[in-house]
Parts: sequence; structure tokens; C-alpha cells
Amino acid sequence: MTSDSLRGKVALVTGASRGIGRACALALAEWGATVAVHYRSHEVDAQKTLASLPAEGHFLLQGDLAEADTCRWLVEETVRRARRLDILVNNAGIYEPLPFSEPDFERWQEAWRHMFAVNFFSAVNLSYHAVAVMRRQGSGKVIFVASRAGIRGEAHHSHYAASKAAMTVLARSMAVELAPDNIQVNTVAPGWVATDMSAEPLKVRGDSIVAQIPIGRVADPMDVAKAVRFLASPDADYLTGVTLDVNGGSYIR
Ligand SMILES: NC(=O)c1ccc[n+]([C@@H]2O[C@H](COP(=O)([O-])OP(=O)(O)OC[C@H]3O[C@@H](n4cnc5c(N)ncnc54)[C@H](OP(=O)(O)O)[C@@H]3O)[C@@H](O)[C@H]2O)c1
Repeated sequence: MTSDSLRGKVALVTGASRGIGRACALALAEWGATVAVHYRSHEVDAQKTLASLPAEGHFLLQGDLAEADTCRWLVEETVRRARRLDILVNNAGIYEPLPFSEPDFERWQEAWRHMFAVNFFSAVNLSYHAVAVMRRQGSGKVIFVASRAGIRGEAHHSHYAASKAAMTVLARSMAVELAPDNIQVNTVAPGWVATDMSAEPLKVRGDSIVAQIPIGRVADPMDVAKAVRFLASPDADYLTGVTLDVNGGSYIR
């Protein structure tokens, strides 16, 4: 499907060097948006994302989202370079195991702090600064890339699942609070998606993972990006506080 319904819009996509973020950048640019392509460490990959985008005006922004000041700078820099910010895609994230059998309590605490800093507080802080811009503009879309894990939980990854659950409820709270400002806030909750993040589990137990997905395959990053793009588009102007499950039917509720 082609459209130019995002022409004139400016999007900031976090974690766009790879995987789902890269696909979101491409999907939004395909419909006409100018994209700020954020990355942390994979500059060459981020350059590849940038080079793949149709049309001109897109740009790279680097920074570690665990730092609150970076979140402020990213929004300020997007507005400085592109003059506005219409769409924030809170996508960047990490996924690491942390079983309750972890013997080192210091490591346990640090792992929880780091998970929430990267997956949750980054989105809180980016949203804070982006919403201020969107309120001044009179409109905006904030989209969170959460996870199926944030809804049903995930053994051996409780800190990851909790960070995504927090994100999902943050989005619902924002949706109600910001509706009068014409800012819509929604979430996508992917199941397994074929990216670097899931490469190891898919290699080790791919068959059993696919066996639990009625559609019969793991998602491609573009499956998620198309849901994000829909939520970013005027077609979704009456949707707010929604969580779109992009999981091939693996968890229906
Ligand atoms: N893959 C799945 O199966 C799956 C399922 C459900 C939800 N999700 C969610 O989807 C989102 C994207 O996942 P993905 O699979 O595309 O992951 P990915 O391929 O591992 O890419 C992660 C992205 O996040 C960025 N990032 C990581 N830590 C960062 C930090 N501290 N500061 C700034 N950026 C950081 C990375 O930047 P650099 O590479 O430049 O360092 C990269 O662009 C995540 O929030 C993930 O939880 C994924």
C-alpha cells in the first residue's frame, strides 16, 4: 500500500540502526515523513538505514538513552534540524536474561536498574520533551514498542517484562491526559520478531517458538513497522490508549 499521508511530518525513531527501528524508519519515510534516525553504537548500520530511506532530509542522531540528558538533546536536536516533531517512536531497547537464581544481589539490582533505564525511563524522558513540542504544535503521535512479554510476563526475563508492562501503562495514562491536546498515544506489543535481539533464541529453539505461533512464522520487522506506521498516520486519529498485538496469534486476549 502506498500513501503520502505522512508528508510534512517529522518522526524521531529510537534504535533505528537495526531491526524493528530500522523498519519503522523506512515505513514512515515511505509515506513521506522526514525521519531522525537514532542509534547508540552501530553507526555503520545507522548509516545503512539512512541510505535506504526514500527522499531527502533524513538525518542521524547518536546517543545512549540511559542518559536523561541525551533524551532531552535528541528532541531538541530533532526540532533544531527539522523544525518540528510530529511522531515519536520509542523503540530502542534491550533484552537480557536474569533468572531468580542469579546468586549476586548487587548484579541483580544493577541489571534491574539498567533494564529500566534503557527500556522504560528513556521512553519516559523522551516523551516528556516530545510532548512539550507537540502541545505547542497542537498535535502529535507517541508510539511505544513494548512486547507481548509486558502483557503475559516472561520467565527468566522478569525485569524485561516489567519494563514493557510499565511502558504499556505509561502509554495508557498519557493517552487520557493528552487527548485534549490532540496527542494520540498508542503501543504495539510484538511477539517474536526476526532481529539481532532474538537471533540466539530463534537459533536454539526456533522450531518450538514457531510451533506456538498460529500464523506459522515469526514476525518480520516490517510486520511491526506497518502497525507503527498505521498508528502514526491520520487513519489512526481516533485511536488512543490502544495496544496492538503483533504476535501472529501466539497470545490472544
Ligand atoms: N525482536 C523481538 O523479538 C522483539 C519482540 C518484542 C519486542 N521487541 C522490542 O522491539 C524493540 C526493538 O527490538 P529489536 O529486536 O529491533 O532490537 P535490536 O535489533 O537489538 O536493536 C536494538 C536497537 O536499540 C538500540 N539501543 C539499545 N540499547 C540502547 C541504549 N542504551 N541507548 C540507545 N539505543 C539503544 C540499538 O542501537 P545500536 O545498535 O546502535 O547500539 C538498536 O538500534 C525493543 O524495544 C524490543 O524490546 C523486540
